[in-house]
Amino acid sequence: MTDTAKLEIDGKVHELKIITGSEGERGIDIASLRADTGCITLDPAYKNTGSCLSNITFIDGEKGILRYRGYPIEQLAEQSSFLEVAYLLIHDDLPTRDQYEEWSEALRYHTMLHEDLRALFAAFPKNAHPMAVSAAVVSALSTFYTEDLDPTDERQVMNSIERLVAKFPTIIAYSHKHSLGQPFLYPDNRLGYVANFLRMMFGTPCEEFHVDPVVERAINVLLILHADHEQNCSTSTVRLVGSSRANLFASTAAGIHALWGPRHGGANQSVIEMLESIADEGLSARQFVDRAKDKNDTSRLMGFGHRVYRNFDPRATIIKKAADDVLGKLGVTTKLLEIAVELAEIALSDEYFISRKLYPNVDFYSGIIFKALGIPVASFTTMFAMGRLPGWIAQWRELVIEDQAIGRPRQIYVGPSMRDFVSIDQRKA
Ligand code: ACO
Repeated sequence: MTDTAKLEIDGKVHELKIITGSEGERGIDIASLRADTGCITLDPAYKNTGSCLSNITFIDGEKGILRYRGYPIEQLAEQSSFLEVAYLLIHDDLPTRDQYEEWSEALRYHTMLHEDLRALFAAFPKNAHPMAVSAAVVSALSTFYTEDLDPTDERQVMNSIERLVAKFPTIIAYSHKHSLGQPFLYPDNRLGYVANFLRMMFGTPCEEFHVDPVVERAINVLLILHADHEQNCSTSTVRLVGSSRANLFASTAAGIHALWGPRHGGANQSVIEMLESIADEGLSARQFVDRAKDKNDTSRLMGFGHRVYRNFDPRATIIKKAADDVLGKLGVTTKLLEIAVELAEIALSDEYFISRKLYPNVDFYSGIIFKALGIPVASFTTMFAMGRLPGWIAQWRELVIEDQAIGRPRQIYVGPSMRDFVSIDQRKA
């Protein structure tokens, strides 16, 4: 296969290098294009633009493959734990037993929030969205650990990483507790990462809290499935903000905001809201699918479609199986799952969805499990954020270690040409 591409502009041929990745993916290197030709490439929404070389996550959207550092998502979901996967992403490889113990111990050490940071939650209205609260509190971490904010100092970075991973479940649990008006529980560091989170989320100071191992395992799997997804919207946001050498907390807070949108992580909340409204309005699955296809109707079939996956989302396959499993073990039957299954059956055999290559994504089923596990709908997207955290950190770290230049896309200006200023009295409506 050739390793250069030829581009002809105004009769002159330019040779561009082709870069090939370890899985055979090919990209045309246009770094010197503007200097050589005066042209830039135009690709709104970056559908065909590679922003970096990365050795963290591999996706083949056509074949439905997802691997973290080479390990297939199916094996990690089946055999690993979220903390182990977080280590894999952040530290480049699976930990040895000693490394795992050291990592868990470091995280246990940092689970508490500073009392003044705890007090910050009281400043938010009770109905504040947990994503807004979490982003604000993560951003505020940078005001408490000012001695550890230098992205180029490895020791400071590791301190910030351990603090962030350790405190994130506490932050999410408190953003939920605040909405209920219930007391915040201090972490119990005898418990594992997920069990500790569940206790802070659902426990009260009045009673002992028992962690259901089925729930603990299901949350571990969900977090693993969300842990990284290469250059998606929130991760690209984290990298772009980080490229200015903004600190880890500031960059992560930006990622949380990006994830919140209903076309990204916020879709898990939107899916449940969609399923509930179908049930409440007494619509048939067919009627809703017709609405989603109608260009004059703004409804989309939430949880369907993905920028990269054009065949199936491997995470959705694992999550559907987990949903059946967890609901069965917990003895929960849910009307919403029935509606979801019916919607998927209709959409998957409908020409509109087939021709546009729209398939269920991870969010189509995740909300159903979260709901069955008792996670409130408003907190669904914060669960996604908790899962995605190691991915954001790993990508931010890769960018900093490789000393990537500040991200700064260009544009083609299509506004008015130069014109003279008109004083306010002489302007026409
Ligand atoms: N329901 C109905 N039609 C859809 C849907 C959907 N869920 N998704 C895409 N389409 C249609 C679009 O209207 C468009 O149709 P057209 O060609 O006739 O104009 C075509 O499919 C292509 O859609 P785009 O929006 O251009 O595709 P893009 O790759 O930009 O968007 C996205 C991907 C944002 C995920 C989109 O499919 C969507 O909005 N899905 C619903 C929200 C969702 O589930 N988001 C979660 C994504 S996964 C994640 O972030 C973890």
